[in-house]
Amino acid sequence: MKNETNPTTLNDLRSDIIGIDTMVPLLDGTKRRYVFLDNAASTPTFRSVLKCIEDFMPWYSGVHRGTGFKSLVATELYDHAHDIIGNFVGADLSSNVVILVKNSTEAINKLANRLNLSKDDVVITTIMEHHSNDLPWRKHCKVIHINVEDDGHLKYDDLRYALKTYKGKVKLVAITGASNITGICMPMYDIAKWVHDAGAMIFVDAAQLAPHRPIDILPNTDPSHIDFIAFSAHKMYAPFGTGVLIGPRKVFEKGEPDTVGGGVVTAVSLDEVYWSAPPDKDEAGSPNVVGAIALAKVISVMEEVGMDKIAQHETELLEYAYKKIKGIPKIILYGPTDNFKNKVGVITFNVEGMHNALVAAIFGTEGGIGLRNGCFCAHPYVKRLLKVTPEDDRRLTAEMVSGNKTNLPGLVRASLGCYNNEDDIDIFVDMLQRVVRGDYRGEYVMNPKTGTFSAKGYKPDLGKCFSIDESTRHRIERYPSEAS
Ligand SMILES: Cc1ncc(COP(=O)(O)O)c(C=O)c1O
Repeated sequence: MKNETNPTTLNDLRSDIIGIDTMVPLLDGTKRRYVFLDNAASTPTFRSVLKCIEDFMPWYSGVHRGTGFKSLVATELYDHAHDIIGNFVGADLSSNVVILVKNSTEAINKLANRLNLSKDDVVITTIMEHHSNDLPWRKHCKVIHINVEDDGHLKYDDLRYALKTYKGKVKLVAITGASNITGICMPMYDIAKWVHDAGAMIFVDAAQLAPHRPIDILPNTDPSHIDFIAFSAHKMYAPFGTGVLIGPRKVFEKGEPDTVGGGVVTAVSLDEVYWSAPPDKDEAGSPNVVGAIALAKVISVMEEVGMDKIAQHETELLEYAYKKIKGIPKIILYGPTDNFKNKVGVITFNVEGMHNALVAAIFGTEGGIGLRNGCFCAHPYVKRLLKVTPEDDRRLTAEMVSGNKTNLPGLVRASLGCYNNEDDIDIFVDMLQRVVRGDYRGEYVMNPKTGTFSAKGYKPDLGKCFSIDESTRHRIERYPSEAS
């Protein structure tokens, strides 16, 4: 590393991860370095980002309208963070605005609230979407869901057909940049062209794309320009509560903000309100200054290392992983299993004859490996990949709604970050082989209410890992890192 705080290479990124060597307790009483393969949910934090925040804190102050020196400093940094974030995706900031919110979900809800959609308008989306890029649209207008092929790819012809059928009514096409289930990257530039030809606009949910690939939303005049984009800092090694929505300034100049209160107005009388210009108009209340700076910092770190290099590293890691996994019997894989150029680091699978929740529990309890299982907030897509019939779907839904999650359909997911390496994959593959061989010792019991499994006798005292009250004195006392 060039200096203590700023990573410049992929190797630096690994050592920049806070908690890379945290030890966790296993069922057999031993401890093991935690292998974190749940990066699609939320990534760990870069030390350089935390350091940046620590360095900033002496200057922390409320922003905008403060006249004190610290407020001037914080305001300048907060505003500048917007520019860094916009530049990260190539946004033309003379005509686009960067709005900072809490996460991608809030960003998409804001867009849905602010587009002035009526019940007759159509938003086309896909069944691949995270619920965050599906449910917000359903509140406002007619939503068309484009289906997928058996291998998880979108039925592109169906999308083009829908654009033709609903031409004039389609206001927006809302697609994921990369799927959180199969890792499939959408051909968003081709889709943008089709969408613009149909006179509509495109929104890309880049929650899973932004951490893994360079993004350029292209000039506004380009037929493949991405009109709106959203992503989350907590999936990019900066989990301090910031999400982003970027789109044409003129869209946000119109209408009322969806959340009103302080910070969004130029003038208020008892009869009248004059809204501020965007982004202030859409960042109601005191903004998350620390989160904005953290996101801007992580962007500068990732750009310094190189988004192309990060993408290349993750692609090679997927190649390495799938080569090994494909040789293991009884593994059912979902989504692309070769040609990873257009797939981010998500490996989804099931083990024949085993409940997805059981597999994930064994990985955690006996392997110290953090995976995730279930439907990953994308129920329609997962059920489609699993070929759940409409009858089974109805039956299972009724069961779940009644509080019994025993038969919850699902997959197991290992998701990679830019800092994962071949060692992590080897540990994951070893554990997968053990699970398939039945080489685990725990007696696992399901809780029908949660649909999760736990091993009898495995009751680590989670409260001992970290205590908020005693954090400075007894930090990670019981499960110390190897380094300490
Ligand atoms: C594809 C995709 N979109 C949206 C979201 C929602 O992101 P957030 O939880 O940051 O709002 C997620 C979260 O996993 C996601 O994977």
